[in-house]
Amino acid sequence: MAAPPKEDDYGFATKAVHCSQSPSQWNSRAIVPPITLSDTFEQEVPDAPQEFDYSRMNNPTRQILENVIAALEGAKYCVAVGSGQAAINMVGNAFLTPGDHVVCTQDAYSGTVLYLSDILIPKGIEVDFIDMTNVDNVLPSLKPTTKMVWIETPSNPALKITDIKAVTDVVTTYAQGKEMNILCVADNTFATPYCQLPLTLGVDIIVHSVSKYMAGHFDGIIGAVVTNDVVLHEKLKYYQSYGGAIPSPFNCYMATRGIKTLPLRMNKMMENAKAIALYLQKQAEVDFVCYPGLESDPGHEIAAKQMIGGYSGMVAFCLLGGHSHASDFLTSLKLFKVAISLGGVNSVAEISAVMSKKRVSKKLKEQANLTETLIRLSIGIETLEDLIFDLEQAFAAIRKTKTKT
Ligand SMILES: Cc1ncc(COP(=O)(O)O)c(C=O)c1O
Repeated sequence: MAAPPKEDDYGFATKAVHCSQSPSQWNSRAIVPPITLSDTFEQEVPDAPQEFDYSRMNNPTRQILENVIAALEGAKYCVAVGSGQAAINMVGNAFLTPGDHVVCTQDAYSGTVLYLSDILIPKGIEVDFIDMTNVDNVLPSLKPTTKMVWIETPSNPALKITDIKAVTDVVTTYAQGKEMNILCVADNTFATPYCQLPLTLGVDIIVHSVSKYMAGHFDGIIGAVVTNDVVLHEKLKYYQSYGGAIPSPFNCYMATRGIKTLPLRMNKMMENAKAIALYLQKQAEVDFVCYPGLESDPGHEIAAKQMIGGYSGMVAFCLLGGHSHASDFLTSLKLFKVAISLGGVNSVAEISAVMSKKRVSKKLKEQANLTETLIRLSIGIETLEDLIFDLEQAFAAIRKTKTKT
């Protein structure tokens, strides 16, 4: 018989369940990792702390989560923070100073767009939002002051696909030629490491809203930043400790628990999402459907190359007719809950332009072609037929309204 695999060699699903959670490490031999609430730890002699001294710097429950996320991303390091938004802020605060220039995906998450435009620009950092789906747009956007390129793929909400490797190649060649250092950052919230591994595609730093697919149950806000580079990690660790935006041990526990079923949830969500995307394509009221798993999707070819585990569970579609039509559709849904956020076991629906992207400027929404008739669905793990039935009755309801008017 072959030697048993080491923890590093386990498959994704085994790592998701077991990583850093061997019962032999605590006296009780509990299978489920204990939640350590203590914020301080006894020191045998003054000024000689053991591994833990104060929970803002490090906490046993948080460390387990960090190890699991790092292992799943194929990374050496991870720092967990209080939210995905805190993760975005931490990366900006740690690595950008006035005079620096940032290039960002045009239809990135609204919190990223608002952080860059409303917090960093007033501090003297220059930001350009570009259409990264066309890699030819990247080189002309780089400048001698560029310090960071922010990639989000699939994008939010139109699920546009950026070729991560092509972008990081362009950035690296440009930076090497000029002896500069440009950090490539990817928000991997929509794809998760189950579907996409940005570090293998040349990215330096990954940010996560762990609140979404990773934790997966809509019951805790938490974020993480992942890297393979010790210098970047040490800076991030410092900002975690002295920026102070740490998650609670309970939220870390919940996220670690949620991650155990990430592969199972993802498989079911992706099965549902593909079927729903195909169903939506056939509806007369639908103008177009965005789902990178559809062969007709403009991003499909690149997605098939880089989304090695599948296309995740988000589907967006544009309804023919005006905003009131889209609004009527949403209010007719019963099983799908009208809500922002995504990636949980429940299916949810939103009109991104007026919900999660409400505060993004009109100009940026127009640039990204974001209309008030684009509906974003986060597909859950429910029975497919029930989800289709729910969509079917919402289409029937808007057909009725149309006949009346
Ligand atoms: C892609 C993406 N990144 C980051 C965030 C921010 O995460 P959080 O809500 O955990 O602060 C979100 C939240 O919706 C998101 O969708």
